[in-house]
Formats: sequence, C-alpha cells, structure tokens
Amino acid sequence: MPIDSNQVLENLSWRYAVKKFDAAKRIPTVTWTALEKAAVLAPSSYGLQPWKFIVVTDGATRTKLRAASWNQPQITDASHMVVFARRETMTPADVEKYIQRIAEVRQAPLDALKDFKGMMLSSVNNPSGMPGGSIETWARAQTYIALGVFLSAAAMMGVDACPMEGFDPKQYDEILGLREKGVTACVVATAGYRATDDMFAGMKKVRFAESEVIHRV
Ligand SMILES: Cc1cc2nc3c(=O)[nH]c(=O)nc-3n(C[C@H](O)[C@H](O)[C@H](O)COP(=O)(O)O)c2cc1C
Repeated sequence: MPIDSNQVLENLSWRYAVKKFDAAKRIPTVTWTALEKAAVLAPSSYGLQPWKFIVVTDGATRTKLRAASWNQPQITDASHMVVFARRETMTPADVEKYIQRIAEVRQAPLDALKDFKGMMLSSVNNPSGMPGGSIETWARAQTYIALGVFLSAAAMMGVDACPMEGFDPKQYDEILGLREKGVTACVVATAGYRATDDMFAGMKKVRFAESEVIHRV
C-alpha cells in the first residue's frame, strides 16, 4: 500500500539525528520487531547480504560501548541500539550458502542457479573487480544501505534515531566479540524518542539546494 508522497516527505523532514534521547521512553516491542525486519529486507548487491545486525540490549555492554563512542550519550540513553556489522571476507562457501538459501526459499533447482552462482563466484574470487575494488569497500557500502533502510523505516513509523559512526570499531569488535562472528563493526543506529529539550530537534535542516544536488540530463 503506497504512502502518500507528502506524508513521506513530512516524515523525512521530521526525522533528524537525535543528540538527546528521552531515556525513559521505550520503543514498543511490536514496533522494534518491525524495524529489525525492515533492516533484514534491505537490498544488497547480488542479494548477498554481507552483514549482521547486532542488537545490544544489555545495559552494562551499552555502558562499555558508550566509552568506545566518544562518550556519546545516545549509546546508553536511546531505547534501542543496533550495530551494523559488515563481513570481512566473502568466500565461495558464502556464495554456496546463499545459493542453497535461494533454492530452499524459491523451491528452485540448483541447476537453474548455475550461471548466477558463476557470476557471484567470479566476483568474490576477483575482489579487485568489485565496485570499490575490495570486499571491504563493497561490504561497507552494502551495510550502509541497510542503515539507510532502517533510518527511513524508523522515520515512517515515527521512531527517532541517530546514525552514528563516531566510535572505535576495534573496541566494538572486542566488546561484542564480532571477529568470532566473521564481521566487524561498521556503523551504528540508536533509536528511541527525542528528549523534549534536545536543542537539535528545532533546528532547520541544512541541505544544498535541489538544483545543485540533482542534475538532469
Ligand atoms: C553515517 C553517519 C554517521 C553519523 N555519526 C554521527 C555520530 O557519531 N554522532 C552524532 O551525533 N551524529 C552522527 N551523524 C548525524 C549527522 O551529523 C546528521 O545526520 C547530519 O548532520 C544531517 O542532519 P540530520 O540527520 O539531522 O538531518 C551521523 C550521520 C551519518 C549518516
């Protein structure tokens, strides 16, 4: 069901990067579950989904992460927090796993997926030919798409958020044991509800003029 275009623009104008969350306000479970599902639905190159989303609810862990995030208060005060972690490598085994998943979900014969599998294998076996020239750059780009989908979905649902890359990925990896999961911290989203006295809430959005940003050919 399409959302009215004015409503979409209104919601995207309403959102801003929250600096001060109301620590007492929690996102209802049903809403948070929908936001998790929105992130999982994010598109990625070939559909390979080179990411994991780490939802951190443990208070003590959030305190440690805040110390690794320039002490930014959103990390502990937001209702929810998710670390978008990217895969460090992509191997033929990952391609195989994905192919098996397609076959299972779509009830497709493996033989019909041969050419697609070949394309993906040639990419992961020759990372220098991938957009950005490496698995790292490629996986990072994909992971930011998931962040964007998450942020947009939150805005549509009236949930406040702050995208954050002001943190030390190495410390995050250690605190959350991410290397053992084959991923590394890439970018974070905190989510919840803005504090009534967050001075950033009332500030005008600063964007370059559409005429400067959008070029028509
Ligand atoms: C990838 C990314 C990382 C960001 N990191 C931080 C951060 O660590 N802390 C913070 O307070 N804001 C952070 N921001 C928020 C930006 O400063 C903000 O989105 C930008 O100024 C535009 O303003 P708006 O989102 O309020 O419209 C980040 C934004 C993005 C997209």
